[in-house]
This record gives sequence, C-alpha cells and structure tokens, in this order.
Amino acid sequence: MTKTLFSLGLLALSSLSPAMAADAGKSYPIDPESGLIMAPGWEMVNYQCNACHTTAIIPQNKGNREVWRDTIQWMVDTQGLWDLSDTWDPVLDYLSTYYDETGIDMKIFRRKPLDSEQMPPMPTSTKEG
Ligand code: HEC
Repeated sequence: MTKTLFSLGLLALSSLSPAMAADAGKSYPIDPESGLIMAPGWEMVNYQCNACHTTAIIPQNKGNREVWRDTIQWMVDTQGLWDLSDTWDPVLDYLSTYYDETGIDMKIFRRKPLDSEQMPPMPTSTKEG
C-alpha cells in the first residue's frame, strides 16, 4: 500500500514536470495546441501570432525585448502584420519574459549556443570561397 502510494506520487511528479516551464522563476503549463507557455498574456499572443504561421515558431526564437520588437516590426513592415497598437507592450512583456534567451533550460542543454563568429564556416560557403 505504502509502495503503491509512493509510485503514484512519483508518477504524478514525472508527468507534471515536462509540461512545466522552468524559466522566469514560475512554472506554467504548456498549451498542447499552440505550444505556448500559458503565462499571463499568452492568449493575446496565441490570438495574434498564429494567423500566418504556427506559434511553434515562438519557442524556436528566443530573445530579449529588443530582439522581439525587431522581429515583430519586421513582420509589420514586410509581411503584412497589423500594428499591434495597444497590445505591443503586453505581447513584448510576455515574449521577453518567457522566451528570453537567458531562459535556456540548462538542465536540457549542456552549454549555450556558440556565437556565430565562433562557428566553423559552412561547407557550402568554403566551396564557393
Ligand atoms: C501577417 C502574417 C503574420 C503574423 C500575424 C505574424 N507573423 Fe511571424 N512571420 C510571418 C512571416 C511571413 C514570417 C517568415 C516566414 C516563416 O518563417 O514562416 C514570420 C516569421 C516569424 C518568426 C521567425 C523570424 C526569424 O527570424 O526566422 C517569428 C519568431 C515570428 N514570426 C513571430 C511572430 C509573433 C510573435 C507574432 C505575433 C505578434 C507573429 N509572428 C505574427 C508573418 C506573420
């Protein structure tokens, strides 16, 4: 009986942890459909940011507030994204908090990605030399 309870406890723990985000000091579940961390502001992002592409593009592109502002401004300027007007700030708050580059989970990654200057040349670019 004690053993069963213990294993159930372990099961509960192990099924919770993958769905939780480790960054920003607080844990929120991940929405299975959008892949977004369900922290304050996520609905606004989900609503506006999956009209043209999947929101799965968001966790793949981390950055601070300026990086996110530039990325979104580029979509406004060149890709037909509407001006976010009064949702600029809440959207940037959400993205820069939960998809900040410092939020890389070091329990999963052994080290941070190399700077592009530290990367070896691409095989294709040396051929063209
Ligand atoms: C009007 C259409 C449209 C909307 C709405 C839109 N995007 Fe995009 N976005 C694009 C296009 C087009 C691309 C480039 C094609 C691609 O990578 O799929 C892109 C690319 C991206 C990229 C990848 C940029 C890179 O450097 O590769 C990110 C991140 C992104 N969008 C985030 C967002 C966020 C956050 C929102 C909500 C604020 C959003 N998008 C809303 C059109 C849109």
